[in-house]
Amino acid sequence: MPQPAVEVVDDAPALARAAADVVAAFVAADPDRTVVPATGETPLGLYAELAERHRAGRFDASSLTIVQLDDYRGLGPGDRRSLYGWMDRALLRPLAIADDRVLRLPADGDPDACAAFDRELEARGGIDLAILGVGENGHLGFNEPPSAAGSPTRIVALTRATIAANARYWGSDTDVPTEAVTLGLRPLLASRRILLLASGPRKREIVHRALDGPMGDDVPASFLRRAEGEVTVIVDRAAWEPA
Ligand code: PGA
Repeated sequence: MPQPAVEVVDDAPALARAAADVVAAFVAADPDRTVVPATGETPLGLYAELAERHRAGRFDASSLTIVQLDDYRGLGPGDRRSLYGWMDRALLRPLAIADDRVLRLPADGDPDACAAFDRELEARGGIDLAILGVGENGHLGFNEPPSAAGSPTRIVALTRATIAANARYWGSDTDVPTEAVTLGLRPLLASRRILLLASGPRKREIVHRALDGPMGDDVPASFLRRAEGEVTVIVDRAAWEPA
């Protein structure tokens, strides 16, 4: 199993360009790819860069299938606070990707629906490219610690760390939903290609723990070292080197 390749770039804009180069080359080689795009702040520069290339006629995303990575549980359809809404604003609309090209997680997290989702994903051939960020607590998507490498798509209880990290989007800690639905580590780690992005000094410790620390459920991102496909980690200097 090849170990993750790490590319260190100067800063967040360089990270966006380097990641866009990887995504664009991957999609150009086969426009029918199935892609998981993370939400969160880290990939926003990448999505803006892809949107810019799209406007310039240099990136065509119209044949992609998009698989939703995670969402809060129990928000009504069209709720602006949902991560689906975030993905819609940051990626789907700027890249002119139609809604019907999105494989959407069951919003209520019903276990049978989650199992059916994993089966359908597998029947479609699985994930070609997963674009991921990492939480300061080591989560991938909302696979909060502890999460087993074989965990399926499911409901998760959000940790206090994640609730605190997301409070800025909601007003206060008590406004953040306490449960979410996430694509499991099992389908994620079976991806043909994984691109992990990390930016800024707050991510430095977890990036090194994920790549060099003990591998285990307490640091879900550490399982990237046993992913089935090729893993590329792009970090900026602030997320890699001591200040
Ligand atoms: P961020 O979130 O990109 O907003 O830092 C990453 C994550 O929590 O997975």
